[in-house]
Amino acid sequence: MTRYQHLADLLAGRIEQGLYRSGERLPSVRILSTEHGVSISTVQQAYHLLEERQLITPQPRSGYFVTPRKAEPPVPPLTRPAQRPVEITQWDAVLDLLNARQEKDVLQLGSGMPDLNQPTLKPLWKIMSRIGHQQDVRMLNYDNIYGLPELREQIARLAIDGGCHLTADEIVVTTGCHEALSVSIRAVCQPGDIVAVESPTFHGTMQSLRGFGIKAIEIPTDSETGISLEALELAFEQWPIKAVVVVPNCNNPLGFIMPEPRKRALLALAQRFDVAIVEDDVYGELAYEYPRPPTIKSFDDEGRVLLCSSFSKTVAPGLRVGWVVPGRYLDRVLHMKYIVTGSTATQTQMAAAEFVRQGYYPAHLRRMRQQYQRNLEIFTHWVRHYFPCGICVTRPQGGFLMWIELPEAFDSVRLNKELREAKLQIAVGSLFSASGKYRNCLRLSYAQPFTDRTGIALEILGAAVERAMERCGIKVHHPVTSTDEEEGRVSERG
Ligand SMILES: Cc1ncc(COP(=O)(O)O)c(C=O)c1O
Repeated sequence: MTRYQHLADLLAGRIEQGLYRSGERLPSVRILSTEHGVSISTVQQAYHLLEERQLITPQPRSGYFVTPRKAEPPVPPLTRPAQRPVEITQWDAVLDLLNARQEKDVLQLGSGMPDLNQPTLKPLWKIMSRIGHQQDVRMLNYDNIYGLPELREQIARLAIDGGCHLTADEIVVTTGCHEALSVSIRAVCQPGDIVAVESPTFHGTMQSLRGFGIKAIEIPTDSETGISLEALELAFEQWPIKAVVVVPNCNNPLGFIMPEPRKRALLALAQRFDVAIVEDDVYGELAYEYPRPPTIKSFDDEGRVLLCSSFSKTVAPGLRVGWVVPGRYLDRVLHMKYIVTGSTATQTQMAAAEFVRQGYYPAHLRRMRQQYQRNLEIFTHWVRHYFPCGICVTRPQGGFLMWIELPEAFDSVRLNKELREAKLQIAVGSLFSASGKYRNCLRLSYAQPFTDRTGIALEILGAAVERAMERCGIKVHHPVTSTDEEEGRVSERG
């Protein structure tokens, strides 16, 4: 980290802690330069960075001021899905989302794609072209069913950060996390079974369940602590549930990291009722906290947890390199893997293994974590600025996805249709429910660097949300600044 970034982070921390208050003038460039023993230009660069992050605002001939902060919207409350097994619907909506990816001129605010334009990915291009030139015949051959040994060794090394001490033999390479999830579900369930899922949950998991004729029971989920263990216990008592699928680290779409005691309690509950846990860790390495949070798998000493992940969110989804650590279900997983794909394509496995082995992966990850966290600050600022009051917004602890909950009468499906004219696309909330709940919610991605186009898009989106709320007869309030609140101008949020 450079000196100016360090200073900017220090000042940002002071603003966050309220040591510099909303609207207050910051020390002059000269004073800061003396105080911290750095050059004038270092302070100027630090201030410039904070300005980009919308934390401070320059005023001509007066210096820099802490940007008046909009009052922070509350986080979404515990969700309340229907707690009985249901047939999964929503395929048409999922297909719509997938098709929208092909439309080049549409700004994909709803997509789960990482940023693929970072310089830390350049070594990957080089590695791929070198592998192509080497004409290694393994590239043209079937791979063995477990996946390339050198890749599995690297994955075993990476798993240590999440608290797992594995050998390469415990890992099966898959075509993305998608295949890891579907072979895991197939390995532990039969058609007609019931699987518990967080609510909201990733639509890909639900469509896999649907494809195998499995019903889902949606469990209430808190946007800061994850699946409700109390509700899950009740569901285990009432229904013959075979497995629970969770995304406990940097959840999609809610962004939470389940606290460690709750992860342990979930495992204990699964042990008590003899239920398998399918743990999806595809965003886990993108946690803003360091070291990254542990996986549930790291507490599992009886092979009950099937840990699924991939390089899709951390490096690039086009590699289609994922993996599963199936524990005691290894034989079943191998059989399902054989049924579904037989083996995984070889070339990108070689590239991923080299990218990690040569040490490029941690550097890339560090950069992406910092970028997504910075994007989140900017994005949150503009969502607060342009959206009306009466909304709830998640505070993601990792990854690049934000969930917004609007009043019950709001319809995000209709909103999405209107937005297409403005060449914008969001992910509608109903995609994340087995039965089409959460039409009043939407998911936004802040993976891409914030540009003028993103700012305009959020302005259009905020205005469209406001119009839609008015149409539904929902009284719209305008956001208030914390200075307003401090001065008693506004006492209540809409
Ligand atoms: C929570 C979650 N799990 C799994 C996947 C699928 O990952 P992959 O692209 O590696 O198949 C995604 C992709 O969006 C996801 O969000």
